[in-house]
Amino acid sequence: MRPKIICHMASSVDGRLLADRWTPPASGVATDIVPRIYEEAGKRLAADGFLVGRNTMTEFEGVTIGEPSSGGAQRRDSHRGDRAGRSIAVVVDPQGKLYYAVDHAEGDHIVAILGEQVSDDYLSELRRVGVSYLFAGREGKDLHAAMDALGDAFGIKTLLLEGGGLINGAFLKAGLIDEISVLVYPGIDGLAGIPSIFDYAGADNDQPAAGKALRHLATETLEGGMVWLRYSFEDAPLGQ
Ligand SMILES: NC(=O)c1ccc[n+]([C@@H]2O[C@H](COP(=O)([O-])OP(=O)(O)OC[C@H]3O[C@@H](n4cnc5c(N)ncnc54)[C@H](OP(=O)(O)O)[C@@H]3O)[C@@H](O)[C@H]2O)c1
Repeated sequence: MRPKIICHMASSVDGRLLADRWTPPASGVATDIVPRIYEEAGKRLAADGFLVGRNTMTEFEGVTIGEPSSGGAQRRDSHRGDRAGRSIAVVVDPQGKLYYAVDHAEGDHIVAILGEQVSDDYLSELRRVGVSYLFAGREGKDLHAAMDALGDAFGIKTLLLEGGGLINGAFLKAGLIDEISVLVYPGIDGLAGIPSIFDYAGADNDQPAAGKALRHLATETLEGGMVWLRYSFEDAPLGQ
């Protein structure tokens, strides 16, 4: 069974994603509130780990980007490295572009979700470093299969989906998000075209959240005027 998936994000008041572009905190408010409050709120969600897209994963120390890997022909089996009781840091990297110096992202054990077409050499390199991996179909885009594997083979019950907008959008479109947890920071980006916390790359008339409705769960005002909003996803009322 797949884990419960909570999309946990920090956003400007205009719903945008890139924290280094936001207006600074008001005078007297700590300058580190975004990462600190984000981390603290995430801990309160009591998940087994987090999941990010390939772009966001490159921001962790020891992770570098290389050439896409391809050439794998045979059926693939997932690999469980030694998690050693740690939380997990899952990355969706369909083409096997990421290389790791260590088996963890800031202490959380790395699990890579890959396309089955990645090469044998790439997989042996991941095993050498101790990184776990599993597959999301041939092209690495079958998120339902990957989440089932994460639940069944890795025993993950709750996962925080932590961006960026592209991977959040893909999970939204796939109907795989159970809850949203957004920390709204009292700051603004304001520029047209800057990504949102959901950024599904679809056609102009696509509606990636079609058929869904949000039910309010909780609201809390936190330090510095950050507002924590929590909602659960449910099916939209019939005919809407
Ligand atoms: N405000 C926040 O709370 C927050 C949180 C996280 C990140 N961020 C920011 O978000 C930015 C990165 O976000 P991003 O949206 O550019 O990238 P992203 O979602 O981190 O990664 C996107 C990549 O994931 C891979 N991917 C795997 N499966 C996919 C699928 N089904 N659909 C689409 N992509 C898939 C693709 O890699 P390939 O191209 O290799 O196929 C794609 O390019 C960074 O600046 C980061 O700092 C902000």
